[in-house]
Amino acid sequence: MTDGEADESITRRGFILGSAGAAAAGAAGTAAAQEGGSGGGGGGTKTVKVGPGGNLTFEPSELSIPPGTTVKWVWESNTHNVVPESQPEGSSWQGSKGAPNKTYDSGHTYSHTFDTPGTYEYFCQPHKSAGMTGSITVGSSGGGSSKPAVPSSAKTLGIATSGALVFTLGLAYFFMKFGGDYGEYGEYE
Ligand code: CU
Repeated sequence: MTDGEADESITRRGFILGSAGAAAAGAAGTAAAQEGGSGGGGGGTKTVKVGPGGNLTFEPSELSIPPGTTVKWVWESNTHNVVPESQPEGSSWQGSKGAPNKTYDSGHTYSHTFDTPGTYEYFCQPHKSAGMTGSITVGSSGGGSSKPAVPSSAKTLGIATSGALVFTLGLAYFFMKFGGDYGEYGEYE
């Protein structure tokens, strides 16, 4: 009789600890998946059209990117350039080669990879007074970029898993506290 109770207690504990272990493993797996998913950060390339259709504009004129993203300016009309107006401390962006004096024509491309978070403002020297300006915001956590869907769902899964883990540990605590009596009686037997 008492032996039976003790066995039941052990079985319960085994089940609970097993569940907690599974939940912990699940949480760890989710964390690893999250790291793998967001580890890329930037690394992509965004294109900005320079003077599309002969207009004195950069398109898009405002761009938000995660650090490590390469911006590629593609000239679609003549006598434009990319000249930094302001940039975050610690970065040394020069703009298109020879800026601000040299300009380039349709077909030219210029790329720069932005690593330092902050706001970069730039203009086209010949057309600054015509409003040919642009800005690039480099976020510190990749905010405002293309695909937040995958990370946020992974985050939700992580929260759900954490909740399950807390619940399971709570149950384990309950059974260890109250279920522990069985074990003690078993020892005295
Ligand atoms: Cu221009």
